[in-house]
Order: sequence, then C-alpha cells, then structure tokens
Amino acid sequence: MNKVSVSSPSNIALIKYWGMSDAQRTLPNNASLSMTLNQCVSYCTLTPQTSGTCDELLWKTASGSLLPVQGSMRLGIEQHLQQLRQHFDDWQPLRIATVNSFPTGAGIASSASGFSALALAFALRCGQSLNSPDLSQLARLSGSGSAARSVIGGFVQWPGHHGQPGGPAKQFAPAQHWPLHDLIAVVDAGHKNISSRQGHHLAASSPFYSTRLRLLPERLDSLREAILNRDFNTLADTVEREAVEMHMIAMTSQPPIFYWQPATLQILERVRQLRHEGLQVCATVDAGPNVHVLCTPQDASAIVTALRTLPGVEQWIFDQAGDGPRQLEHHLF
Ligand code: PMV
Repeated sequence: MNKVSVSSPSNIALIKYWGMSDAQRTLPNNASLSMTLNQCVSYCTLTPQTSGTCDELLWKTASGSLLPVQGSMRLGIEQHLQQLRQHFDDWQPLRIATVNSFPTGAGIASSASGFSALALAFALRCGQSLNSPDLSQLARLSGSGSAARSVIGGFVQWPGHHGQPGGPAKQFAPAQHWPLHDLIAVVDAGHKNISSRQGHHLAASSPFYSTRLRLLPERLDSLREAILNRDFNTLADTVEREAVEMHMIAMTSQPPIFYWQPATLQILERVRQLRHEGLQVCATVDAGPNVHVLCTPQDASAIVTALRTLPGVEQWIFDQAGDGPRQLEHHLF
C-alpha cells in the first residue's frame, strides 16, 4: 500500500497496569482494564520514502506545518519502528507524520494512542487488517503496555486471558453497551517529570506492592461484572479505590513519585461530593495530575456545570467511550 493513514484512540485505565515483570518485552505484573476513548486520538500517515535511505519522522503542528520529531519522542518512534520492521521483515525507509488531538506526554495516554497508531499504520502497509489479532502485541512492542489496549474499542482487558501476561488485549463490551462520558480535567498540559516507564520500574520498591498484586484479580473481576451489569455504584467505588491505590504505590516507591497536584485533589473531592448528592459520577487519574471524571450520559451536563467553576483546570476535554482505531482516507501530508 502506498500511503496509509489511521487514527488510534487513547484509553483510560480503570484497573491500572503498574509494574512489569519483563521491561524488554513489556510484560505486565497484573491484568488491567480500560475504556477506549473517542475524541483523544493520534493520527498517523505513513508512506515509503521516494528518495534517500533514512526515515523522515514528522510532527504536524497546530498551524499545519510538518516539523522533524526530536528528542525522546524520536527515540521512542525509532525503537518501535525497529521492532515492527523485524516483525514484518520490511526494511523500506519511510516518511511518517503524526499528531495528537490532545496534550502530549501529560498522562492522558498519548503514548498508547501514538504507538498504537504507528503499529496499525505499519501493519496496514504490510497487508494486515484493523481486525488482525496480532495488533495488540505489535502496539505494545513500543514499550507502552497501555498501547496494547488502544487497538480495540469499548471496554478492554489486557491481557485478555488469565495466566498469559504476554497475551493480547480483548474487548469484553463494546462502547455502545454503556456509553460513559469522560470529562478530562487538564490540570497541567506540560510533560510529566517522571515517565510511566520509571514508575513501572519503581513499583515493586513500595512495601505495599505485593498486597496490591494479591487484591487485584478479585477487583478486576468485580469491575468487569459491574460494567457488564451497568452497575454505576460498584464501578465508582472500585475505580476510585483503584486510582488512589496506584498513586499510593507510586508515592511509597523508593524514590517516591508524586503525580498529583493540589487541583487534582480538589477535583477528586468535589466529584465525591457530587456523588453523595446523587449524581452518577466518579474519577480516576493515570500517571499524571489530570483527572478523568467518568459519568453517565444523563448526568453529564449537571456535572460539567458543577465542575467548570473549579480553579486550577487549564482545559476541559469532553470525551466518551469510543469504537477504536480507524483507517482514514484523509492524510497528514
Ligand atoms: O503504558 P504505559 O507504560 O504508558 O503505562 C501506563 C500506566 C497507567 O496509565 C498509569 C496505567 C494504565 O494501565 O494505563
């Protein structure tokens, strides 16, 4: 295929993957569960180079110009490309452009969407389809485990089967089953100081980590049931307990990692109040300060009105459960 373009979404982890048993192969210590998003997506266009022997890696800016990708992002893309080339035995130099619809590197899983978009575009070029069962494995070759979940829409578990840490992610309910909204409070759109890779590496140094790993399988099963039954109270209780626990592990790692900022805590508190007032709302936080406020569609506008007055939020992104990656006719160059 000559020129290929895809969009691939971010996802929000409801049960977090935190800690790896094998960093080289991105094997998680625990199964995780997520909701694929709809608006927060990465776009990627890829085509063979017509001249030259090097890859050209480009970032599309808001003004529409294409600039060379630099620094750690460039390194991450190069490493992922190397793995994809080995997998497909396809060594053609490429011109690749990418852009995100949301802040990059701020803990809204831009690596999940970005690396899954690259893997999907490469796989399409090599003749695979967006339904291929390999895609979850290809996406996580990047080192971003959560990318394994972004290749699938709706509610997703990774690994999909117990006892297979390297197994693919699996959908257990489509987005239409329960079209939950995700109101993302961007408290800080800047790059986070401590990457999730470092967080995974340090997780086991928390004295509470082994307790977490022991408790997680039951929690995951209970959350999956709650989603299948559209049981918001169990979802809210489980998702918030889970988010606090993951951050407690980070805060008690050696050295400790503090992702939360004062506004993070304020939003979490306000969300709890709103729930006590009777609204179907709860919140979770990935590896960053930004808060994902989850709610049912019928309560979304009352919740937006109540939260919009809170100080310390740079930007609100209104998202919801989505259907997963798409091949696009529209290209970035
Ligand atoms: O996929 P990574 O390596 O960026 O790590 C993701 C870590 C969390 O977002 C905190 C949890 C998760 O399961 O997505």
